[in-house]
Amino acid sequence: MTVRFTVNGSPLSVSAEPGEVLLDTLRRSGFTGVKAGCRSGNCGVCTVLLDGRPVPSCSVLTARVEGRSVTTIEGVGDPAHPHPLQTEFLERSAAQCSYCMQGMIVSSKALLDEIPHPSEQEIREHLTGNLCRCTGYVKAVEAVKAVAEGRAAGTAPAPGGPAGEPSTAPDGATMGAGGAARAAADRRHAVGRSAPKVEGLGLLSGRARYTDDLAPPGTLTGRIKRSPHAHARIRRIDASKALALPGVHAVLTWRDVPRVPFSTAS
Ligand code: FES
Ligand code: FES
Repeated sequence: MTVRFTVNGSPLSVSAEPGEVLLDTLRRSGFTGVKAGCRSGNCGVCTVLLDGRPVPSCSVLTARVEGRSVTTIEGVGDPAHPHPLQTEFLERSAAQCSYCMQGMIVSSKALLDEIPHPSEQEIREHLTGNLCRCTGYVKAVEAVKAVAEGRAAGTAPAPGGPAGEPSTAPDGATMGAGGAARAAADRRHAVGRSAPKVEGLGLLSGRARYTDDLAPPGTLTGRIKRSPHAHARIRRIDASKALALPGVHAVLTWRDVPRVPFSTAS
């Protein structure tokens, strides 16, 4: 079936299978900033805005978005014009591997669009649907609070708006809320301070590529089968049943690994 909707303000027309979910449609359409995690609506890494509301795109059928509006992390801001949330997450080192952060920033944007001045408790409750395995959420909550406070000072975008107008740093670089002043100060006091990740804005804006984002269409997926026995002698591996399964292209065992000795010395 053909489904038409807008992504980050631009029309998209895609051919989708009846059971296809929005996550897969977006990723194969090039929006790889939308990450795949649990695929069951629990981790939040695939969060997008659907008509302005945060939803796990792994749990939305593509057919259900006909005529609707989708915002992905790519539509929140880019490295040249980051959203204040992206700048604050970067400057506060809120991200480590950053795999969860695209979804967390999209969720945070939805919160600030709806509640411009949330309490810390409201921020924490809102982000409970975005799981992070690397961090303790403290920096992320601080970043959202900082943007909310920046909004009060009139430096952040209006609720419901797109990425917003970045402020301009003294050297002409564009930064988000509070970023320009801190960047100028950081340049004068770099020693003994933590530095933002070099690739940080690429990660936080969904532009950086993870391995799974680079897999060309039709790439085979490999699974490692380990012995269920802690101590055992493997006498034979019978792969005939596995090879008979639909979709299985090959089963590789020790027989497929050349016996190359590390050394022939002594
Ligand atoms: S991948 Fe969608 S919620 Fe985890
Ligand atoms: S920063 Fe790695 S999972 Fe959140």
